[in-house]
Amino acid sequence: RPRVLSGIQPTSDSFHLGNYLGAVRQWVALQEDFEAFYFIPDMHAITVAYDPATLAERTRLSVAQLLAVGVDPDRSTIYVQSHIPEIAQLTWVLSCITGFGEASRMTQFKDKSAKQGVDAAGVGLFTYPILMAADILAFDVDRVPVGEDQRQHLELARNLAQRFNSRFGAVLKVPEAHIVKEFAKIYDLQNPTAKMSKSAESDRGLINLLDEPKRSAKKIRSAVTDTETEIRFDPVAKPGVSNLLTIQSALSGTPVDVLVDKYAGKGYGDLKVDTADVLTEFVTPLRGRVAEFMDDPAELDAILARGAERARSVASTTLRAVYDKVGFLAPG
Ligand code: TYM
Repeated sequence: RPRVLSGIQPTSDSFHLGNYLGAVRQWVALQEDFEAFYFIPDMHAITVAYDPATLAERTRLSVAQLLAVGVDPDRSTIYVQSHIPEIAQLTWVLSCITGFGEASRMTQFKDKSAKQGVDAAGVGLFTYPILMAADILAFDVDRVPVGEDQRQHLELARNLAQRFNSRFGAVLKVPEAHIVKEFAKIYDLQNPTAKMSKSAESDRGLINLLDEPKRSAKKIRSAVTDTETEIRFDPVAKPGVSNLLTIQSALSGTPVDVLVDKYAGKGYGDLKVDTADVLTEFVTPLRGRVAEFMDDPAELDAILARGAERARSVASTTLRAVYDKVGFLAPG
């Protein structure tokens, strides 16, 4: 079976709606037809300021959320990045074939380092996309389901695989991005031309799946729209309304054009109330399931131990082939 792989950072207590609709929801669907590898990139999470006291718990919480939305540990390999030392080892080799200029062109690095001042940024933030390339290339992956903001990183991974193969011999599989256009960029409710992100200045436009549903409903009711009254899907002229339509459509399974017909003659208030209701119905049982998984950390750890064993068996085979090609002497 073809392989699919993706990761989500443990940088917050909760996934946000953009993470879920843009990426994680696809993970659940893809595990049906693909051999799936889904992981928590804790090594990526330490590339920016963070609190070491919360990282392990957030890693478990991330796993609990994956299980709660339907990632099935009997079908998918679920693991934590730092449990797979071969990923860091492959990163080194890939970093030696990455151009300094090439890495400097990564827009996420430019954005994140500009925020703190480029001199304050760690080298790990700079090499982050190379670590991400290793995450993928260690596993001979066919498809990588991500949101739009990861497209450039995926392109780097593809370039590095091709470069390695042409310089040293064909070893690495060149992965394809799997980006579902309608949901690849969910927007901030207060600033509907910017992506929903946990690093936005204010969290008033951010929907966290594990927040109190009342709080999220309130955020949806105060979402920024526009000065017209008509409900139609037009992301350029009506980004706020279109974002709400996208969210409601994704969570309810009702196509956007059906929703638009339903709202003929109705107002933005109706759209907001219904979207808030659909979200509440989705997150209420989800929060309960996450709490149940969190009540049994031994079970979570057992899932991760199994996942790490399986993941290492794949990654170590790739690493050995890479080491042979670059000319490293095999240990005796
Ligand atoms: P991360 O943890 O920031 O986000 C996880 C996934 O959520 C998607 N996403 C969105 N999709 C739609 N709309 C949004 N507003 C939105 N915000 C986030 C992201 O595109 C991502 O798919 N570098 C990655 C993690 C990673 C990874 C990997 C992914 C590390 N190694 C290997 C794939 C393969 C990241 O920071 O995602």
